[in-house]
Amino acid sequence: MEKVLKITQEGDPILRKKSEAVKNPENPEVKKLITDMVVTMKRASGIGLAAPQVGHSLRIFTVNIEDKIYVFINPEIKDISEEKIPFEEGCLSVQKIWGSVIRPKKLTIKALNENGKKVKIRAKGLLARVIQHEMDHLNGTLFIDKAEKLSKIEENK
Ligand code: NI
Repeated sequence: MEKVLKITQEGDPILRKKSEAVKNPENPEVKKLITDMVVTMKRASGIGLAAPQVGHSLRIFTVNIEDKIYVFINPEIKDISEEKIPFEEGCLSVQKIWGSVIRPKKLTIKALNENGKKVKIRAKGLLARVIQHEMDHLNGTLFIDKAEKLSKIEENK
């Protein structure tokens, strides 16, 4: 059965650890984790989710953009564009805070997908943005470390 996982919040040390490579993507536990991550990401209306955010220090993240789900296992980023752009980011692990982060506009990602097959995608726009944000999670970095200025969303009274 699919399970909605608890999303770790800033302050949890797992969000600051460098995640480990997945040794066997075919492992049923890895497959189950990925299934649960996709369900959890959708339930939270998130566009990206990294394994450390659900308590697993593994190099896996999922992306949900325009009804397309991407799974990246042991990702590597290549061919980063020199051109950089600012964009407002938020994070399921850092609630009610937003901030503009400057990042390269385009990149290529090489990884394994949910079936353990090699994939290579040239990404730009929102996909490139989310890939870089999630890749940071695998290295223990949060967008609040990079944002120029953070804004707090006030609760409605
Ligand atoms: Ni995040």
